[in-house]
Amino acid sequence: MSGGPVAISQIAEDRFTLEQFRSTSLAHKRIHPAHVENMRQPEEDTHGERQTRRMKQEYWLESWEQERTGFHQDRTNKRLAEFWPGLGLEQGAEVFVPLAGKSLDLLWLQQQGYRVFGVELSLTAVEAFFAENHVEHVRIDVEHGVEFRGGGAAEGLRVLVADFFALTPADLLGVAGFYDRASLIAMNDDMRADYTRHLAALMPPGAVGLLLTIEYDAARMKGPPFSVPDALARELLGEAFQMDELERYSGAKRLGNLKDRGLDTLTEYVYRLTRLPCMVQP
Ligand SMILES: C[S@@+](CC[C@H](N)C(=O)[O-])C[C@H]1O[C@@H](n2cnc3c(N)ncnc32)[C@H](O)[C@@H]1O
Repeated sequence: MSGGPVAISQIAEDRFTLEQFRSTSLAHKRIHPAHVENMRQPEEDTHGERQTRRMKQEYWLESWEQERTGFHQDRTNKRLAEFWPGLGLEQGAEVFVPLAGKSLDLLWLQQQGYRVFGVELSLTAVEAFFAENHVEHVRIDVEHGVEFRGGGAAEGLRVLVADFFALTPADLLGVAGFYDRASLIAMNDDMRADYTRHLAALMPPGAVGLLLTIEYDAARMKGPPFSVPDALARELLGEAFQMDELERYSGAKRLGNLKDRGLDTLTEYVYRLTRLPCMVQP
């Protein structure tokens, strides 16, 4: 593992907008123009891309309505509990959880003393999260949708019901950390690069995160969850993030509820990601 805790004040100083990111990065050729080209806001999407995205959204909304939620874990993810403390993120820091579902990991993070900001497309999922866990909350209408804000013991926890791709860097100004479990691997081939580019655009320099992925023989199973081999993860994220592999686990024992879907083995990866600063050269 490399890299140490990041001071919150330093992160705040490093903040910049997507527009600034584009101009400084391009001007100084630190980021490949194609990469920046792809960091578009939703309103810049082509018609075809919007349509693909809507179809994918319908898939997830239906999954929640029809209770096809085999990805949900009824306990805190054990890799989160094991590896999160090693990120060294200060208590009180805000942690972003993209594509949050009704994950109990949101609660675990909040109970460790972090402010937590989840985004999830499905209102059904978010309502279920707050109801099933008896979490005191209020609902507030905000720019991108409706936000559920925890109260009492859940103070500091909020989950926005919205499209992740509608968020802008301005929505994440307070964020110092992030956690991706079953989010990148939920994205199919068409969406995966959009997801990682958008995550990179949203995360302020210095933000640290935990990424959990899986790799399997894609000829034997159709996702989601999709296989994201280490080389692909690095291709997608390595330009914008420092990537440190913290652990990998292989074997049939890792299959869990995927063992009935034609696989006989699986590799799980645990990465620490650190959003790289956008270097502006003199
Ligand atoms: C495989 S689930 C993982 C949920 C959660 N991370 C977990 O560990 O249980 C993927 C989630 O992403 C949500 N989702 C898919 N596309 C999204 C989008 N564009 N914006 C926000 N949420 C989205 C789905 O509704 C679903 O709850």
